[in-house]
Amino acid sequence: MTTKLTVREAITTRRSIKKFNGQLVKREDLLNIIDDAAWAPNHGTREPWRLVVACEEQLPKLHELLRDLAVPKWQELSDEALATQMQKFTLAGGYAFMVVPEDARQKERLEDYAAASSFLQNMQLLAWDKGIGSCWKTPGFLDVPKFREALGIKPGERVIAMLQLGYFDELPKGKERKTATDIVAFFGE
Ligand SMILES: Cc1cc2nc3c(=O)[nH]c(=O)nc-3n(C[C@H](O)[C@H](O)[C@H](O)COP(=O)(O)O)c2cc1C
Repeated sequence: MTTKLTVREAITTRRSIKKFNGQLVKREDLLNIIDDAAWAPNHGTREPWRLVVACEEQLPKLHELLRDLAVPKWQELSDEALATQMQKFTLAGGYAFMVVPEDARQKERLEDYAAASSFLQNMQLLAWDKGIGSCWKTPGFLDVPKFREALGIKPGERVIAMLQLGYFDELPKGKERKTATDIVAFFGE
């Protein structure tokens, strides 16, 4: 594997991409990213995750689902207005939905959510290293029965994130972050 970025560079230069350019992400690239992201830390090696992915030929059907769930009264829109509203979905080059078991025990449930979040961050950084942008999104429809059914989500599972992936023409500016001095207290001082 050819890695272009150091870990530090990947972390500090990654930006959430909200405006993709429509270029498709290849299935093989997505699978490679997922294979590597699976090295995320997770308690007891429970590997509390699975993903539903859409790229290439799965995209048209997913777009229909997203239209039905996320564009109010889409039937009343002109083709042009609908296409414009759908751009936030259609210009992404691939999708990964993160599915996590909902453990009845609170500690385990939080651990599993944390582990799956590490997996997602790994995916974002690995994608970034391949020149693929991403945005982690948590739209309300992730919990809607029609959406769950379409993705084959079982009882006791929850979709915690929609990761949009894709190529982009403009790099967003980084938003200021607090520094270590802002957020650190030294124990006992
Ligand atoms: C748990 C989580 C949920 C997020 N949900 C959304 C979302 O629903 N829509 C969105 O546009 N961005 C979402 N984001 C992305 C953030 O807006 C983004 O990370 C933040 O603005 C910082 O920008 P950066 O990632 O470029 O540093 C989410 C990020 C996280 C970690």
